[in-house]
Amino acid sequence: MASARWIRLQEEMAREEVELVALVPGANLFYLTGLSFHRMERPIVALFPRAGDPALILPAFEVEKARAAGLPWRLFPYTDEEGPAPAFGRAAEALGRPEGPIAVETLTMRVMEWSLLSRAFGAPEPAAAEPLLARLRAVKGPDEIAAMRRAVAVAEAALRMWLPEVRIRMTEREAARRLIQACFAAGADALAFEPIVVAGPSAALPHATPSDRPLGPGELVIVDFGVVVDGYVSDLTRTFALGEPDPELRRVYEVVREANAAGRAAVRPGIPAEAVDRAARAVIEAAGYGPNFLHRTGHGLGLEVHEPPYIVAGNTAPLQPGMTFTVEPGIYLPGKGGVRIEDDVMVTETGGESLTTFPRELMSIGGSDE
Ligand code: CO
Repeated sequence: MASARWIRLQEEMAREEVELVALVPGANLFYLTGLSFHRMERPIVALFPRAGDPALILPAFEVEKARAAGLPWRLFPYTDEEGPAPAFGRAAEALGRPEGPIAVETLTMRVMEWSLLSRAFGAPEPAAAEPLLARLRAVKGPDEIAAMRRAVAVAEAALRMWLPEVRIRMTEREAARRLIQACFAAGADALAFEPIVVAGPSAALPHATPSDRPLGPGELVIVDFGVVVDGYVSDLTRTFALGEPDPELRRVYEVVREANAAGRAAVRPGIPAEAVDRAARAVIEAAGYGPNFLHRTGHGLGLEVHEPPYIVAGNTAPLQPGMTFTVEPGIYLPGKGGVRIEDDVMVTETGGESLTTFPRELMSIGGSDE
C-alpha cells in the first residue's frame, strides 16, 4: 500500500512539475511509507525524486528499521561522530541535484534540515509541499476510515466512562487527568492532543488549558479531546451543564446544537467546503451571536488533528466522498462561559455521515451541589 501511495506522489509531482519532495518524520512520511521516527536533534530526511527510487538520510542506528519497511530506499546513513552533512552531500550526488526548488513541509521542516538540504543541493529556495500532499491524503480509503471509526469508538467509550466520575468542585486538571485515564482504559494508542476540560469563564476561550480552578455549579464545561488508534485520530467536543445552568447559557447551547446539526446536514459531495461553514454560521448569526463564534467551523482530520480540508469561508474547494473533517461551531461569552459541539464527519456518495454519534442534548453532570 505504501508504495502505491508513493507512485501517486510521483504522478502528482509530474503534473505539478516538482522534481524533488523532501519530507521529515511525521504524518506525510508515515502516509507514504508506514515509517515513523521521532523528530529529534539528529536529522532524518526522506527524498522523493519525480523518477527513480527514494533516498533516506538517517542516523546509522536507524538503518535496520528503514530496511524492514520494505521500500526500495537508497540509504544514506551517518554516525554521531561524522555528523549529517556528508550524508546530505552523498544523497545530493546520487540524486543529481535536480533543477528548481525542493518541495518541503513548510509547517514542520526545521531550519536545521533545510540548511543541510539547501547547502547539499545548492537550492536557494524551498517550495511548499503541503498542497501536493494534501491532494493525496484528503480522500480517505476504506482502511483509513475504518481506523478513524475505531478512534471515534474509543473516544466515545472513554467519555461514557468519564462522565459518572465528574463532580462539581473537582478541579479542571483533575477532571482532565481522569479523562486521559479513561482514554487509555478504553483502548487509545495515544492522545490526539492534550484534552481541553474547561468550565465557566475559561470555557469562553476556545483553546484554554485545564487549571486548578474547581468546576462550579451552574457552569458549562467544554470537553474537547481525541485519541489515536492505528495512526488515525478522533476529535470530539461536548459541552455539559454542571448542575442547573444559567438560562442564557442554556439558550446559547441550543443555538450551537442547531448550528452543529445544520453544518452536518449541509455536507454532501460537490459543494465547496465553505458552504458547511456558512450553514453552521448562519444559525448562530440569526440568533444574534455571530461575533461570538470566534473560529472556523471545522478542520480536516485523519493522520493529523488539523489537516486539509479546512471548513472556512474562502475555501471553495469542492468536497469529495471520503473526505473527513470536523463540524464544531461554538459560541463564547466573555467572562461567562462557552459552548462548542464537535463531530467528525465523512463525506459519502450522497451526503455526509457523522462518525461521532455521542448524544448532543444538554446533559447535566457532576452530581448535586450539596
Ligand atoms: Co477540532
